[in-house]
Amino acid sequence: MDVIVLEDADEVGAVVADLVVELLAEKPAATLGLATGSSPLPTYQRLIHLHRQGKVSFVQATAVMLDEYLGLPEGHPQSYRTFIIEEFIGSIDLQVERLHSPDPTATDLEREGQRYEEVIVGAGGVDLQLLGIGRDGHIGFNEPTSSLASRTRVKTLTRQTVEDNARFFDSVDDVPTHVLTQGLGTILDSRHAVLIATGASKASALAAAVEGPVSAMCPASILQMHPKATVVADMAAGAGLRLLDYYADTQRGKAALER
Ligand code: F6R
Repeated sequence: MDVIVLEDADEVGAVVADLVVELLAEKPAATLGLATGSSPLPTYQRLIHLHRQGKVSFVQATAVMLDEYLGLPEGHPQSYRTFIIEEFIGSIDLQVERLHSPDPTATDLEREGQRYEEVIVGAGGVDLQLLGIGRDGHIGFNEPTSSLASRTRVKTLTRQTVEDNARFFDSVDDVPTHVLTQGLGTILDSRHAVLIATGASKASALAAAVEGPVSAMCPASILQMHPKATVVADMAAGAGLRLLDYYADTQRGKAALER
């Protein structure tokens, strides 16, 4: 894993946005894997800014979302599809027909999980998957004990995750308890996984994911098995990393090689 620890969430957003810009410069028809929640928002804001300056175009790109809530009325502002259109897609030139998400209204949700896997394969696979991390170490909504080989399927959120997500709803009772989420096996198939972690509340989950054993109790730790995983954290989220100095030295070393 490549671990980058920066000062704050804005710096994290700028560095992750650069990774997306570099990818699209090389491969304009790339497939981006999008996460929702707070962690990627500075990245999306930076990408919108760069797009407005004419520095990046998504016109040939495809996007696939990580997950979607079950049970929200159609068009609910907190449905992840609505959220990503509001926060990102609606402000760039990615064609909305090329934004894919799991369909929470499908009558056969198991079949919907399989269909979604086929959509991802049909899009040529994910070139760059953006991820946030839950306080319990989830990525996507693969909660602790998720199979490390899982594919897109229904998951039940833990009480802690429901409470964490309540800030987006009027009350905790309005937060859906079930989701359709890409599995850990699905995420592992992406060509580049980029985990964003910001804020002190993520410090212990991030330390477990990066430096702990690979374990279904910290689903993000499966990224240790990913051939190309980059972690971009701010100081607050990186505070629990034992090798913090080493990551800083590695970055300095790389910068020296590039000069
Ligand atoms: C969202 C997702 C989740 C979040 C995680 C962190 O699509 O898959 O794994 O990334 O719950 O959420 P925030 O960023 O809001 O702290």
